[in-house]
Amino acid sequence: MTCIIIVGTQWGDEGKGKIVDLLTNKADAVVRYQGGNNAGHTVMFGNKKFVTHLIPSGILQGTTSILGNGVVINPSELINEINELKGMGISVEKNLFISNQSHLVMPWHLKFDSIKENQRGKKKIGTTGRGIGPAYEDKVRRSGLRIGDLLDKKRFHSMLKEIVIEKNQLLELYLENSDENFVAEEIFLEFEKYIKILKPFICDTANLINNLIDKGKKIIFEGAQGTFLDLDHGTYPYVTSSNTIAGGACTGAGVGPTHIKEVLGIVKAYTTRVGSGPFPTELFDENGVLLQSEGKEFGATTGRSRRCGWFDAVLVKNAVLINGATSIAIMKIDVLDKFETLRIAKGYKLKNGEICQTIPQIMENFTPVYEEMPGWNCKTLGITNYEELPSEMKAYIDRISKLVGAPVSIISTGPKREHSIIIEPNKLFS
Ligand code: GDP
Ligand code: IMO
Ligand code: MG
Repeated sequence: MTCIIIVGTQWGDEGKGKIVDLLTNKADAVVRYQGGNNAGHTVMFGNKKFVTHLIPSGILQGTTSILGNGVVINPSELINEINELKGMGISVEKNLFISNQSHLVMPWHLKFDSIKENQRGKKKIGTTGRGIGPAYEDKVRRSGLRIGDLLDKKRFHSMLKEIVIEKNQLLELYLENSDENFVAEEIFLEFEKYIKILKPFICDTANLINNLIDKGKKIIFEGAQGTFLDLDHGTYPYVTSSNTIAGGACTGAGVGPTHIKEVLGIVKAYTTRVGSGPFPTELFDENGVLLQSEGKEFGATTGRSRRCGWFDAVLVKNAVLINGATSIAIMKIDVLDKFETLRIAKGYKLKNGEICQTIPQIMENFTPVYEEMPGWNCKTLGITNYEELPSEMKAYIDRISKLVGAPVSIISTGPKREHSIIIEPNKLFS
C-alpha cells in the first residue's frame, strides 16, 4: 500500500471510519480531503466508541492526521474535537496538520444553511445544518476566509469587517423585520481565541503530503459522505457541496492522480440514506424497520433516523466505475442475519419497459428490478474466518461482487476493528 483512497459508494455512513481505523496501523498518514463536520465516522476500539467529524480517524491510533485544502473547517467544532481526543488521552499536538488553504465555516454559514433549508420547504435537502453548503458557496464565489488568513490577525480583522457588511445585507434580505445581525468585533474576539489554539497546526499540507509520498510513505485518503452525495455525480440537488468521489482526493489534498495506487470502495450490504432525495430501493415495510433496528441506523452526526432499503447494485456498480475502485469492502453484513429472503436491485425498469443500468439524471419514473436470494438465518456477528460464513452469505457477497464489477477485499461482520475478514491475498495490508 502506498496511496489508497477510501471512499463511500452509496449515500454515506457505509462504515468508512471503521475501515480507515482497520488500515491505519499500516499507514504513515491519514488525510481528509473534502467535507467538514457534516461527516460522522464511527470507530470502535476495545469497549470505546469515538465519532470523528473533522479530524481523520487515523488520529485514534496516533497516526499523522492531515486536514487537506478541500476540507471546510468550523474552528470551534475542530477545537471541541481536539479537546475530546485529549480527554481520551489521545495526543494531537504532534500528529495534527491543517491546510492553510482550507476554508473556514463562519457563523453566517450556519445561519444561512438553516434559513435556506426553511425556505426550501418541502424541497429541503435535509442538510446536517453545519453550514457546509454556504461555506463552499463562498469558496466558489472567491469570497471565503481560509484558515491561513488567521495567521495575520490584522489582515484577518479587516477582511472580517468587510465580509460582515455583506453578510448583514444578506441577512436583512432573508429575514425581513429582524434585528438580528453579525457583529464583526464579537466574531473577531471569538476567533482570536481560536487562532491561539489552532496556529501551531496550520501549514502547507500539499507540500507535507508530497514529501511523505517522495519518501515512500503510506497514505490513506479518508473520504467523507458517499458517491451519490457528490456535487457532480450524486443525486443533485440532494447532495452535499463537495466532490466526495475518489477524484476529490487529488484536488482536496494536492496530490497527483499518478500517486494513487488503490481505491477501496466502502459498500454497505444494504442501502441507507439520511436527509431528502431519491432512493429507489427504499423500504417502507417491516423489512425497512428491521434494517433500521438491526443496523442501528441513526446518523452519527445529527442522530436522525437513516432511511433504509435493499442493496442497489445499479448504484454501487456506477460508484465502482466513477471512483475507479480497485476493490470493495462489504460492511454490516451481520445486520442481515434475521432475513429469510434478501433482494438486490440489478436494474431500473423505465416507463417504456427498457431496463437501464446507469443512473438516470432525474431519478423518478422507474421501478427497481430485483432478484431474490435466500437469507442465512443465523448469527454471524464477529466472524473472522471466511470459511465459517454461511454458504448463503458467501453467495450473497459473490453476487454483489459480480454485479458491481469489483473484487471483495474485506468483509465486515461487526462494528469493532477485530470483526473483520481480510480476503487474502490482500494488497491493502502489504
Ligand atoms: P461512516 O460515516 O462511513 O464512517 O459510517 P458511520 O460511522 O456513520 O456509520 C456506520 C455505523 O455502522 C457505525 O455505527 C459503525 O460502528 C457501524 N458498523 C461499521 N461496520 C459494521 C459492521 O460490519 N457491522 C455492524 N453491525 N456495524 C458496523
Ligand atoms: P459521512 O462521512 C450521510 C447528507 C445530509 C444531506 C446532504 C447535504 O458520515 O458518511 P450537508 O450538510 O452536507 O449540506 O447535507 O448530505 N450528508 C450525509 N449523509 N453521511 C454523511 O457523512 C453525510 N454528510 C452529509 O444528510 O442529505
Ligand atoms: Mg457517518
